[in-house]
Amino acid sequence: MDPVQYFRIRLSTIRPDKVTTFDIFIHIDGKYILYVKTGDKLSDTKIKTMHYKDTGDSFYIKMEDKAKYQNWVREEMNSDLLNPFEKAKILHESSVALMEDLFENPDVNTALDESRPIIKDFIEVMENVPDAMGFMISLSGHDFYTYNHSLDVSIYSLGLGKALGFNKEDLEELGVSALFHDIGKRSVSLDILCKKGGLSDAEWEQMKMHPQYGLVILNNHPNISDAIKAACFEHHESWAGNGYPQQLMADEIHPFARIVAITDTYDAMTTQRSYNVPLKPFDAVTMMKEKLAGRYDPEMLKAMYSVLFKLKVA
Ligand SMILES: [Fe+2]
Ligand SMILES: [Fe+2]
Repeated sequence: MDPVQYFRIRLSTIRPDKVTTFDIFIHIDGKYILYVKTGDKLSDTKIKTMHYKDTGDSFYIKMEDKAKYQNWVREEMNSDLLNPFEKAKILHESSVALMEDLFENPDVNTALDESRPIIKDFIEVMENVPDAMGFMISLSGHDFYTYNHSLDVSIYSLGLGKALGFNKEDLEELGVSALFHDIGKRSVSLDILCKKGGLSDAEWEQMKMHPQYGLVILNNHPNISDAIKAACFEHHESWAGNGYPQQLMADEIHPFARIVAITDTYDAMTTQRSYNVPLKPFDAVTMMKEKLAGRYDPEMLKAMYSVLFKLKVA
């Protein structure tokens, strides 16, 4: 067993010809093989030939270099050498990697703190380059692991919060709360979470406990805001009053939870899972409006259309 801990990255976060400040390893046959030494750079051709091998499970850095890598990515975000779409892609890809790490972190306070800079970066991109946000939304929804799902729900929620006129501070709180809305799924058994096909009644009852489980986790940590707790505990409530666990209705449901209720369902409907065919964005929102009428805050659902269809997607 290799005593060194590694952190997975996506090769697409590495811009060609930029000198690295960390070693990059390829993971082949259970071994980590040095691929790019600190101080070397990746050529464009090398990135292109390697790219198709990047299934998301191939490239790593040493865990101890994680902060260096994050700074390196942040530097990219501030450089003039990349266009907004390249920046948006790098931010999205690097956040996916960070998500996995966040969701394995047993210390929720640290995870929440570490997630704030990510959310701030997204808000920055959204404020400065609205087109890049549309592009980022188009990058979302490719697979359905809790952390990717949470990141996507967070990105959609930021878009929706912005459309609803939220200020920066509220957007930050909203982005973080959306990231952690499903934190209670940590307490649901993996067999249930990963089961393909339908759940039995008993399994479904377990699954429906995740808002309560989440609240227990968040209550165990000091300094977590009520808004973050509400998004977690109330995101399966329904505007009409027939959701769970408390059957709250309309304005009784915290606005963050009403937002997450929309973006969460939207992500589930438009994401490829092994057992479903994803809906197109327009079909998903229309279905939420027509077939699931009454479940969502109608004004917010209207705003969701504007988020998805007025933003120019590259
Ligand atoms: Fe949920
Ligand atoms: Fe969710």
